[in-house]
Amino acid sequence: MTQDELKKLVAREALKHVVEDAVVGVGSGSTVNHFIDALAGIKGRIEGAVAASDASAERLKRHGIRVFDLNAVNELPVYVDGADEVTEHLAMIKGGGGALTREKIIAAVARKFVCICDASKLVGVLGKFPLPVEVIPMARSHVGRELRRLGGHPELRQGFTTDNGNVVIDCHGLAITDPPKLEAELNNIAGAVTNGLFARRPADLLLLGCQDGVRTLKAKA
Ligand code: A5P
Repeated sequence: MTQDELKKLVAREALKHVVEDAVVGVGSGSTVNHFIDALAGIKGRIEGAVAASDASAERLKRHGIRVFDLNAVNELPVYVDGADEVTEHLAMIKGGGGALTREKIIAAVARKFVCICDASKLVGVLGKFPLPVEVIPMARSHVGRELRRLGGHPELRQGFTTDNGNVVIDCHGLAITDPPKLEAELNNIAGAVTNGLFARRPADLLLLGCQDGVRTLKAKA
């Protein structure tokens, strides 16, 4: 199977976790696009969705799926999203598509976070994939200096603005051995809106697309 076929496989598998007659949280990225397309097949059985990016919201609407504002939703039983890297402890690097802030907000609200990935995303230590940090534009230089102080090599994502009107700095060269600690440290940098480490609120379930089928990993209690 190609990488795209593996993404499709886990996207379809995630349908089993969607709760009927409820709103489902939908992330962003190419794996999630397959999930949205699969969701269209059961759209009569859900109330609608909240979306982590404008692109996902548009795709959902094109399929005739109602998109809710997160503030209008009291309960979010499940959130389905991809990742750029994930560990067996279900900590992740996200934000390759730049939607990390809205993704982190929806993940915080959701009761259950189901991460869907092809097998290439599973790593022993996070950090080979450059860590995205969404930054208020006037804080760009300051945040870059702070990231260098932590041992990283920051690089401004060229020609990119987030759905929130901010810039993204991709931080290379960090070997992230203690993800929750680094996530908290980065949260304390003035002007950094969100960092792409999802460790303090990891996924609850990982559906990993492998050549021999879908492997399911659960967060350790
Ligand atoms: C988007 O900002 C990301 O967090 C995505 O979830 C991540 O980049 C995975 O994307 P793919 O499914 O396209 O690999």
